[in-house]
Amino acid sequence: MNISGNGQRGKFIVFEGIDGSGKSTQIRMLSKRLQDMKLKVYTTFEPTAGTIGTLIRQMLSGKIKIDQRTLAFLFAADRMDHLVNEENGIRKKIDKGELVICDRYYFSSYAYHSQYMDMEWVIHANSLNADTLRPDLTVFIDVEPEECFERIQTNRNDFEIYEKIDIMKKVRTNYLKAFERLRDLEKIVVIDGNKLADHVGDAIFREVMKIIHPA
Ligand code: TYD
Repeated sequence: MNISGNGQRGKFIVFEGIDGSGKSTQIRMLSKRLQDMKLKVYTTFEPTAGTIGTLIRQMLSGKIKIDQRTLAFLFAADRMDHLVNEENGIRKKIDKGELVICDRYYFSSYAYHSQYMDMEWVIHANSLNADTLRPDLTVFIDVEPEECFERIQTNRNDFEIYEKIDIMKKVRTNYLKAFERLRDLEKIVVIDGNKLADHVGDAIFREVMKIIHPA
């Protein structure tokens, strides 16, 4: 069933958080719960698995060297492709009434790239994306960087360029700055992600229900 059931616009829910914050687990739990309610859910992620996203991942692994400004533009381009490409662009899915859940969106750009350049520049570089589709809800899973770092170290052997503790602390601070900067334009909820996964999941579900079935 489409979310609206009457041919209206769907909902766009975005998950944000520093690396190791548990986004993927929470997205899986939330989609299952929503699908059990017979809703049509489409989950997706950035960087995408498309041509630009694949190139970006090679840069993040350090295989290809790149200037940070160029990388920021590539993320913005990957995002536009994610929104409007003919095959599975999410703008169309929303227009058809689907519920789209996305792992990372432009707040990731604001938080990660403003380590290297002015945040206003990154916001500007993504303004066309924001005009094309603004999330109905951005869920930020807030977990202590030390905890995230430990989780990453126990779970993996290869690390991306941003998975270092000082960087993770900076990125978390940048996220909070971006939320403050855009609080009049965006609907953001900060969820305490230091608790057990099921508790975190319940808190997220409550927030999502508010936008699906507003009181
Ligand atoms: P991540 O969600 O960690 O993917 P995976 O779990 O598959 O490794 O995203 C990869 C990295 O990309 C992450 O460190 C954050 C970074 N990133 C940016 O720097 N800018 C962006 O705009 C986005 C979407 C991600």
